[in-house]
Amino acid sequence: MLVFSRASPHTTPTRRRFLHLPGLTGPSLAWFSPSWMQRVSSSSRVGQQAAPAKITVDVDARVSTIDRKIYGHFTEHFGRCIYGGIFEEGSSLSDEQGYRKDVLDVARQLRVPVLRWPGGNFAASYHWSDGIGPKDQRPRKFDPAWFAEESNHFGTDEYIAYCRKLGAEPYVCVNMGTGTIEEAAAWVEYCNGTTNTQYANLRRKYGNPEPYNVKYWGLGNEVWGDFNAGRKGAGEYARQALELAKMMKWVDPSIKLIACGSYAASDLDWDRQVLETLYDVADYISMHVYVGGDDYYGLLGSARLFEERIRALDGVIGAVLGKNRTPRFVFGFPPRKDRIQIAVDEWNIWYRVRNGRDRNVTSKQEERYNLRDALWTASILNLFQRSSSTVTMANLNQLVNVLAPIITSKEGLFLQSIYFPFRLYVEHCGNIALDTRTISPTFTTNSQAAVTYNARTMAENIVLPYLDAQATVDDDARFVSLAVVNRHRDQNIRTTIQVQGSPALGREGMVFEINGTSPEAENSFNGPENVTIKNRKESIFGKSFQYEFPAHSVSLLKMQLSSG
Ligand code: AHR
Repeated sequence: MLVFSRASPHTTPTRRRFLHLPGLTGPSLAWFSPSWMQRVSSSSRVGQQAAPAKITVDVDARVSTIDRKIYGHFTEHFGRCIYGGIFEEGSSLSDEQGYRKDVLDVARQLRVPVLRWPGGNFAASYHWSDGIGPKDQRPRKFDPAWFAEESNHFGTDEYIAYCRKLGAEPYVCVNMGTGTIEEAAAWVEYCNGTTNTQYANLRRKYGNPEPYNVKYWGLGNEVWGDFNAGRKGAGEYARQALELAKMMKWVDPSIKLIACGSYAASDLDWDRQVLETLYDVADYISMHVYVGGDDYYGLLGSARLFEERIRALDGVIGAVLGKNRTPRFVFGFPPRKDRIQIAVDEWNIWYRVRNGRDRNVTSKQEERYNLRDALWTASILNLFQRSSSTVTMANLNQLVNVLAPIITSKEGLFLQSIYFPFRLYVEHCGNIALDTRTISPTFTTNSQAAVTYNARTMAENIVLPYLDAQATVDDDARFVSLAVVNRHRDQNIRTTIQVQGSPALGREGMVFEINGTSPEAENSFNGPENVTIKNRKESIFGKSFQYEFPAHSVSLLKMQLSSG
């Protein structure tokens, strides 16, 4: 079966319609670069071809501007993410302050736009004042989120310093479990205060005269979860979050607030109640999505579930904001003018190390990711790009060791497969999403193959195109980047690519490819380059050209636009 896809493949044309599309039959289909394909097929050991496909990109049809924060990350006090991950005091691999230099080097290459911290569930019982001041005087505490011991050696100042080293915008999630309204406001003052008052002065006293200007503040994390300290129902949460927002904004009116949404928008009534109460003060509503399962197509097909959940949440935002409201001045601040955005501030594949427990500290939640998981990651980045009018922040859970693209030992590190889509996209995608239409052979998958840990909402027998494509252009229209995930397990897909609009494509450009010998290929300390990015120059591009996307691969075609 073939599917027509424009952003989301909702229209399924008949086979007849597909076969009558111009340019899909005839000699032009025969083109491919022999040397390139030789290299690819020897690495992937696949030679068969599925039915041909077609991708049409319109350079003039700009869908929306992509906010770079969709490429964000997350560091939680959990397992070896902070301690032994980004921070290891006394290690020969660390600098004098304790930051792992090797980790910082590879994290920098991800050009992390925003880094969420300190949790996660950890945030629900974290008291920020435990983590400031002289380290030998910081209390060592029991962490009820992960049944762990917290040294508090990494606190607000260390986190801000890390963000600065990375070049990332900080995003702090406050304690809405055991914390108080006053404590949250004091944290804002500690970070951003410029007054001659207690908490701003404390920051100065500890060696940081300039305000940190932390812009993004999360109003609690997964507050609906009974696994969290201080769980609340929607109404109770919304009322308390409003009071926090008020106090926090009184300290610094410029901050942006992220309200806590339901898990994967699975409880739209939670989302509605939260939005009804916070619509004038919240800038974002959050959504967390985890998927898992060994079934190859089931897991890859869960990208559709992800998309559905984004659409569902966006629908609730529209419904709440669309009500005929009398604009109100909340606590002295003018009512919001812009639309509330979605922050997918935790997402990833998470199932191998869950062992049926929500808080399994013993396994440290260190998933090993394979090539298939990298294909899924690229599909989700495509999804964020094409949803960029509503998803303007996303944070992969997490940066190091715990469900992470980077794995450390005391001696070094290796990069997991899911590191590479991030690297590819932050380096080579443009910041404007383009209308991208895909006609591709399809696969069928079902709900049991990939489930999220709290919501089994995936439809049965959904049909998806093997090719998942998204094009972007940069502000100055210097290049078009076409990112294509070929989700076919075994077959290359020969594709006609048409790039319409002006300026026209030149012939020159680059091809980048993430691939490996099989979808199960993964990196490790012993085999750190089984999955990686390969690249080459090409001069095959133009208004209409052919490309063969190798089985189980992510390809990014970076094509120059001609200036004339
Ligand atoms: O990071 C792991 C946990 O996953 C987070 O603490 C929580 O928000 C989510 O359930």
